[in-house]
Amino acid sequence: MDERTASQLPSAPHPPPTVEAVHGALGGVLDPELGLSVEELGMVRRVEIDGDGTVRVGIALTTAACPLRGQIGADARTRIESLPGVREVLIDYAEMTREQRADLMGRARKEAQRRAPATRVPATTRVLAVASGKGGVGKSSVTVNLAVALAARGFTVGVLDADIWGFSIPRLLGVASRLQARKVDGKGLIQPEQLPVGDAGGRLRVVSMGLLLDDEDSALMWRGLILSKALEQFLTDVEWGDLDYLMIDMPPGTGDIQMALARLLPQAELLVVTTPAANAQKVASRVADMARRSHLMVLGVVENMTAFVAPDGSRHEIFGHGGGRRLAALTGAPLLTQVPIEPAVSTTGDEGRPVVTAHPEAPAAAAFTELAQRIAEELLPPIEMAGCTARMADLLAGIGAPTTEA
Ligand SMILES: Nc1ncnc2c1ncn2[C@@H]1O[C@H](COP(=O)(O)OP(=O)(O)O)[C@@H](O)[C@H]1O
Ligand SMILES: [Mg+2]
Repeated sequence: MDERTASQLPSAPHPPPTVEAVHGALGGVLDPELGLSVEELGMVRRVEIDGDGTVRVGIALTTAACPLRGQIGADARTRIESLPGVREVLIDYAEMTREQRADLMGRARKEAQRRAPATRVPATTRVLAVASGKGGVGKSSVTVNLAVALAARGFTVGVLDADIWGFSIPRLLGVASRLQARKVDGKGLIQPEQLPVGDAGGRLRVVSMGLLLDDEDSALMWRGLILSKALEQFLTDVEWGDLDYLMIDMPPGTGDIQMALARLLPQAELLVVTTPAANAQKVASRVADMARRSHLMVLGVVENMTAFVAPDGSRHEIFGHGGGRRLAALTGAPLLTQVPIEPAVSTTGDEGRPVVTAHPEAPAAAAFTELAQRIAEELLPPIEMAGCTARMADLLAGIGAPTTEA
């Protein structure tokens, strides 16, 4: 990848610029997706200046086929050429290693965190956003069951229903009370509904539009809000207190709420839920699109409704086969679990008693409990999918899938 681009400028009477001056010029070159300069991101690998005014610069990109390469290179060239004493600019590009890429995304995320408006979610809280390409795949079921399974381990787990008008968390958890507000430092803060879980001291703190609506004032207050603003209020006007985890039930797709999440909680990790029948390429392109425009990490893929095992032991793949594995292969994120189709997931959900506590022996409950254990003990987000989106950009270009879909 030693492609060189050169341009000849009229011979310069000035002495060549210093290395510092070139770094200074590069400090103005922004990575358009990450919003930080290539200097801040550590992408400038080498600056060499010959006595005749030839400047050689090495720039490391997240991926060789970075679609932003031309833009970054042209900007770098223009800025260096504007320095007195520059006769020629030679830029070569290198591809970052996996570690370098992770480091770069870490810096971008830190910067996003620095810029993020303050929320009432503690910085130490691990935020898991449950997302999907479309509705009806089991996001809300995954959210509540994982939240309860984590709380059963003794954690304090926030459950934020970010499916603002399509809320289902109150029904799934059997909560019907109205949330109260309390004045804290002169500001009215919404108090989450607190539910004790198990006997290890764990609990849930639940917030959903469904727990606010009956109240005339708050209904009026919320009705006019655009969705992203509603999410912001849920994060800034709720007294979450100390949380070990915050589970966010996202609305389907990759709209305003997803972008608001990335802006407000850049530390969020995505759990992508899919069914075995889902068009993995479509889901992957949506996830990639979202991850690219944010700095969100993908923790992994949850395949839900994998197969139905009848009482006689026969296995029925009612909703198809392989969607989770295909999505995992396409995104590079691991397939974390496959949750079987089980009527108990649905019936207990209707009764407000998640299957993990109502029928802990059920295979679906076991899948959730095991996943919660792995999240608590071993699973860390394995891949970075932003900036020049590493593998995703290449893969999607390779298979010709659209990278943006409504
Ligand atoms: N593993 C499962 N087995 C059986 N039914 C399920 C399972 N997961 C979800 N369901 C049911 O599928 C429907 C959609 O699930 P839900 O969690 O509301 O999806 P989403 O939030 O993605 O729209 C619900 O009726 C739910 O009870
Ligand atoms: Mg839902």
